[in-house]
Amino acid sequence: MGKIFNEVDKLVRNNYKFFTTPGHKNGEAYKDLDFSFHHDITEVKGSDNLHNPLSCIKHSLDKLKNFYESKKSYYLVNGSTSGIQIMIFSSFNEGDEILIERGCHKSIINGIFLRKLKVNYIDREIYNLDFLNSKDDLKINYNKEDLFFNVIKEKIEKNKNIKGVILTNPNYYGIYIDQEKIYNYLNKRNILLLIDSAHGAHIRGFNKRLRCTNKYCDLNVMSAHKTLGALTQGGYLHVNNEKLIDKADLYFSIFTTTSPSYLIMESLEKALEDCTKYDQEILIKRCDKFRDFINENTNLYGLNNFYIKERSNNNFSFDDTRICLKFKNHNSNGNFLYEYLFSKKIICEMSFFNGVILIPTIYTKEEDFIFLEKCIKEFKSNQEIYDVDEIIFKACSLNYEKVLEPYEIENFNYEILPIKECEGRILFNDIFLYPPGTPIIFRGERILIESLKLIYKYQEMGFEVNGLIDDKYLKVIEEKI
Ligand SMILES: Cc1ncc(COP(=O)(O)O)c(C=O)c1O
Repeated sequence: MGKIFNEVDKLVRNNYKFFTTPGHKNGEAYKDLDFSFHHDITEVKGSDNLHNPLSCIKHSLDKLKNFYESKKSYYLVNGSTSGIQIMIFSSFNEGDEILIERGCHKSIINGIFLRKLKVNYIDREIYNLDFLNSKDDLKINYNKEDLFFNVIKEKIEKNKNIKGVILTNPNYYGIYIDQEKIYNYLNKRNILLLIDSAHGAHIRGFNKRLRCTNKYCDLNVMSAHKTLGALTQGGYLHVNNEKLIDKADLYFSIFTTTSPSYLIMESLEKALEDCTKYDQEILIKRCDKFRDFINENTNLYGLNNFYIKERSNNNFSFDDTRICLKFKNHNSNGNFLYEYLFSKKIICEMSFFNGVILIPTIYTKEEDFIFLEKCIKEFKSNQEIYDVDEIIFKACSLNYEKVLEPYEIENFNYEILPIKECEGRILFNDIFLYPPGTPIIFRGERILIESLKLIYKYQEMGFEVNGLIDDKYLKVIEEKI
């Protein structure tokens, strides 16, 4: 076999513990099943057809629809990314204006680019920073009710052209927003609510403390490969607004491969079945126990629903099946913890300026939780304290100036310049922090000095900033606008 095989094989054979996606945890979900390459078939008599489901796939999709209580549901075999393109194309026409979160996943930005939409932003990162920061001085005053709802309402009232809103729920960190009030408000005004629930497929089955994200929205996409047991790329798309079904059918057929993987479809079906087969409390209870251990025995703190509700005065909630650990007493670079755990053969989903995110699922082995607890207990973070207050301040005060819509960039040529010469120029391609894929500057925006400082700071801290060339250059449009 080749190099990719050998490298992956090394990780798997060396018994790394994956607190990352995919949720099936190195096949643990399938250990008692005869699930292998010989099921990798195509549409033949008896296997049904995802593009025209009439028998076994139809039966399975009916179960999906019933479980998530949608009007119509689809299996996605090209990731939530394809589901997001389908949602965007089904909901909007070229030139429509929409409202999105600035920290959204890049698949949303790409969808907006392809559909040629005009974009408006809500800043959600500032709330994340408040919850992830160790200090008690919060940037936002949470004494008011319906804070996030009011941010959306204000934007809609200011701009009567907005046709739809796309929200991420829950987000990478596990921060959750209640959609009911937002949806009811938008629905009365014929404004669509699309939910990127790439991290929320499991809530309906395994977190009764939160409402399923498919409850109050028009369309919803879930990565069943992230928090349930599907193979990588497996996802669910739900349509709740009957008027959008025809369009969703059309764009599903356009954005989905004509050779859907039967292995992925089988895994999507199994992931769904496991939502009712397993004890619904098992994961959340284990995560609660893990957090108790961490909070008592280490200088880290595990975010939980109670804490986020209290800190935000009930404006936000938290998905207690997500492990989001931050340093307790002072802010410190999450990369150190990430690298330390990697040296112990534990792989975290991602690190952030003050901690790490881990994704356990119902298939995570008890011995892996115990080993993780032991390793974190032995972590000596105070050996390398790294004060990141400056980065929090920079990220909070980040401004942006949209000069061109993302799709308008295509009409321009670019040149490549050293980063320090780019202030004031218009960016040609998105610059984002990876993971999680959070944008620092979007294509079409003016490059401001504060954004450049943030890029330098992230680089200094060892984070991966995508969209740069050789880490030193940027693509900017040739014309000086
Ligand atoms: C919030 C969010 N949305 C969408 C996606 C895209 O999902 P997929 O990898 O299933 O295409 C991701 C992937 O990381 C994500 O984190």
